[in-house]
Amino acid sequence: MLDRRRFLILFTKSALALTALGLLDGVRRFLMPPLPPSAPAQVRVQPIPELQPGQQLWLPQARAWLGRDDAGFYALSAICPHLGCTVRGEGQGFRCPCHGSQFGPAGALQHGPAPRGLTRLTVRVEDEALVVVLG
Ligand code: FES
Repeated sequence: MLDRRRFLILFTKSALALTALGLLDGVRRFLMPPLPPSAPAQVRVQPIPELQPGQQLWLPQARAWLGRDDAGFYALSAICPHLGCTVRGEGQGFRCPCHGSQFGPAGALQHGPAPRGLTRLTVRVEDEALVVVLG
């Protein structure tokens, strides 16, 4: 039979043990955060869009802009090279909403603070689809 004193000691130890487990779990999560879902290495665009030279199409699944010029299709990563915000189409080029960097229609840097232009991604035609290779 548990007397009152033993019950309180057991209850207090149990509460402290549960609290310690909760703290340890928090430390574990801090030290080993869950891995983000891996981005696909490539994105298929099918059917092939009918873009006119100078037109650009937003590809949310690739976080990229697909465009076409006289040489064919191209894709520009929409990840701003400054701090990683997503650039938006503006006029004939692109503008970062975070700190105002501006890029030309082919992704060339026009105005910082971004240190360089947008990254050009590889685009190839494969089985009647466009394949945009990320990264
Ligand atoms: S993140 Fe684009 S300008 Fe800063």
